[in-house]
Amino acid sequence: HSEFTKPTAEHIKDLRAILSAPTSLLSTLDGTATEDELASFNDDWMNKYHGKGPIVVKPRTTEEVSKVMKYCYEKGLAIVPQGGNTGLVGGSNPVHDEIILNLTNLNQIRSFDPVSGVLVADAGVILEAADHHLAEKGFIFPLDLGAKGSCHIGGNVATNAGGLRLLRYGSLHGSVLGLEVVLPDGTIWEGLSKLRKDNTGFDIKQLFIGSEGTIGIITAISILCPRRPSAMNVAVFSLPSYEAVQKVYAEAKGQLGEILSAFEFFDRQSYALVKKHQEENGGERKVFETEGDFYCLIETGGSNAEHDEAKLSALLEHLMENEMVLDGVLAQDSTQFQSLWQLRELVPESAGKAGSVYKYDVSVPVGKMYSLVEKMRTKLREGGVLEEDGRPEGPIRAVAGYGHMGDGNLHINIVANKYTDDVEKIIEPYIYEIVAENEGSISAEHGLGVMKAPYIGYSKNETSIEMMKKIKHLFDPKGLLNPYKYIV
Ligand code: FAD
Ligand code: MLT
Ligand code: ZN
Repeated sequence: HSEFTKPTAEHIKDLRAILSAPTSLLSTLDGTATEDELASFNDDWMNKYHGKGPIVVKPRTTEEVSKVMKYCYEKGLAIVPQGGNTGLVGGSNPVHDEIILNLTNLNQIRSFDPVSGVLVADAGVILEAADHHLAEKGFIFPLDLGAKGSCHIGGNVATNAGGLRLLRYGSLHGSVLGLEVVLPDGTIWEGLSKLRKDNTGFDIKQLFIGSEGTIGIITAISILCPRRPSAMNVAVFSLPSYEAVQKVYAEAKGQLGEILSAFEFFDRQSYALVKKHQEENGGERKVFETEGDFYCLIETGGSNAEHDEAKLSALLEHLMENEMVLDGVLAQDSTQFQSLWQLRELVPESAGKAGSVYKYDVSVPVGKMYSLVEKMRTKLREGGVLEEDGRPEGPIRAVAGYGHMGDGNLHINIVANKYTDDVEKIIEPYIYEIVAENEGSISAEHGLGVMKAPYIGYSKNETSIEMMKKIKHLFDPKGLLNPYKYIV
């Protein structure tokens, strides 16, 4: 049941008149699509959230987006903006019958300036495609994540995605220079600045970075891209304890300095999920002589291969000699570079293949990070739902901890045989309580979406929430844009 105008065949007729191509609108209401064909827009990546949107619109230009928004605003039709639909908090799918506005067809690179490194591109450009475009010119997109083959750069900005190289390139709040946004009433905000410095009033674009489609549709971005490191290397270590991971992190920062570009960690349970997934796909291969309870991945990126290799080898030797790690593998070529990265990047996909995954993404001080995973296991054990309790079929098959160590960002994936209220009640709000006890954030990088909207109070005080509600109302007085999400 929705509180907004119910979409009808009449609306479809009007929307078709706005859109230039017949293929830009798919609907079950006029027979141009079946429910199955709309499932990939209505269901999320985890198959946890299922909308019932009967209409998908895929505009081809900013003007078309503007006309669609203006029409929906006048008619009181609710809208869900959708990029690559890789979000992990149910933000990109309808809750009821909201119209899905998918940005796939806005996919052109608009310009690139090799002197400043500023890229201007449509919101629907796929992250990997943007990075390939930059690679040809010797530059790199200042964000990388496991979903790069599907997620959109507009979606990345809308979620303020963090990813694997935030440690090196910082957050999108720093690298995004400008945005073009269509507001809920159809107004086009032309804010595609290419300036690094501009102190003329409020920095409006910052409001849209991480706004998760609640106050406007991002149609293009302008972003500062660094030079691509000419030498990149990666090493993965097995370690005996979380304390050891922290020591290695401190050593890596000290010894590698400016060339350290990523420091990721994952636990034995995460590694087991990846190995199982790789075995099932015929990619079985022994990586470590000695496995451990923990693993860390260190990436370097610099401009002098010899210099970088010497530093990384020296670190490796130091760690082995001082028995800080159990084992280590240094990539010998670009194939091994990719396969070592896969050990970390494949954790989400492997967990997804193993069952229905309850995903948590939190920020806490680095020293306390892993204690949250242990507390969660204890809680599930007490609830009698961990597979290790002798239950042959779950309900909880694994509790995996991994994340962006350098950013104090922990991911806890709880793999269940299926999503049930009983299991969810054991996990939530307990997980948010233990994050709040540590003065952490209940969402480090995935956002609030529909999943965490009710729990924002664990990380934000009343005054902050009130200010957010006022901002939402200012941009979207009818509450039509991505309803039931973010702040409710
Ligand atoms: P969608 O999922 O389509 O949308 C996400 C949210 O943004 C929704 O609320 C939607 O309404 C809104 N939105 C999308 N496009 C627009 C737009 N143009 N204008 C306004 N609102 C819009 N996230 C991280 O932060 N770090 C990671 O390391 C990371 N790794 C991932 C790995 C995997 C395998 C997967 C599946 C996901 C990962 N994610 C990660 C989560 C996800 O990929 C990111 O949040 C990504 O930025 C979402 O982009 P998208 O285009 O898929 O957006
Ligand atoms: C990651 O770091 O792998 C991502 O945030 C995705 C995830 O945790 O599922
Ligand atoms: Zn992550």
